[in-house]
Amino acid sequence: MQTKTAPPAPLAPGATAAMPAYSIEAILNASERVQWAIEDVIGGDKRLEFTRPFLPESFARTAELEFLSGAERRTLNQVRGHAYLSVFGLVEEFILPFVLDHVRTRLDEGDAAVRAFLNFAGEEAKHIELFKRFRATFERGFGHRCDVIGPPEAVAKEVLRHDALAVALVILHIEWMTQRHFVESVRDDSGLDPLFKSLLRHHWMEEAQHAKLDTLMVEALAARLTPAEIQAGFEGYLAIGGFLDTGLRQQTELDLAALERATGRTLPPEQRERFLAQQHQANRWTYLGSGMSHPSFLATLTRISPAARAQLETVAPSFC
Ligand SMILES: [Fe+2]
Ligand SMILES: [Fe+2]
Repeated sequence: MQTKTAPPAPLAPGATAAMPAYSIEAILNASERVQWAIEDVIGGDKRLEFTRPFLPESFARTAELEFLSGAERRTLNQVRGHAYLSVFGLVEEFILPFVLDHVRTRLDEGDAAVRAFLNFAGEEAKHIELFKRFRATFERGFGHRCDVIGPPEAVAKEVLRHDALAVALVILHIEWMTQRHFVESVRDDSGLDPLFKSLLRHHWMEEAQHAKLDTLMVEALAARLTPAEIQAGFEGYLAIGGFLDTGLRQQTELDLAALERATGRTLPPEQRERFLAQQHQANRWTYLGSGMSHPSFLATLTRISPAARAQLETVAPSFC
């Protein structure tokens, strides 16, 4: 039985959402209050517990695969957890240069804005390192090879060739999606691994400020654009989503291969087919649908283009 998060209530087409009351000073203060070091999260004697699942079931959705035993579903959950570390490694690699470029355009906006955006970039650089450290810990403990899509440089190159607004929307989507990942891990009472849960929590703590800064970034970019340019930026956002979706389909195949290696059995053709379709959809919800349908992401989209929001609401159900 899946525990999919209910989609948020839609705003009426053409409705305007209230402007968020995000102030740079408040974001900067919050970011300085919650900052942590990698060593606070991982290292020393901290270990992943391979007797437990890592990802909330609402994202892993392994329970639907009734042809897998309980132990195999847990192994699949862990393989998905490893892919999660790698997918975030990929996306943080294009967020970092984009934010660094953006901060140069705001140098005349005062010290608080510059410091807030530099903190944003510095935290993303730290997250890249954090996800790498978790992957290394995973690989030592899991004992079987888990391949991942990439390389990060190629993904970054493809994403960053799009309009700035397209990329900023993708980043905003990712920030709100990360908030949802932690919230779901708190709701999930199936005994998630405490270290993986701590990763989600620490990421959430800093990403909460990124989501607000990225909202301001999207609005600043959109304010300089015509409606046609905003629509082009939105189309670019959808195109990047399609590109990432192709990668998720490939990752699903890699996850199946890792599961077969780890369990020592090959699934019969009919089960493989079901696995690939079902887990691709689970990945779509984890990385695409959960951001596209996030109420705060939709609110920003409504402010810059009610038409784009209406269009997204026709697309999003395929990713949920
Ligand atoms: Fe991050
Ligand atoms: Fe972030």
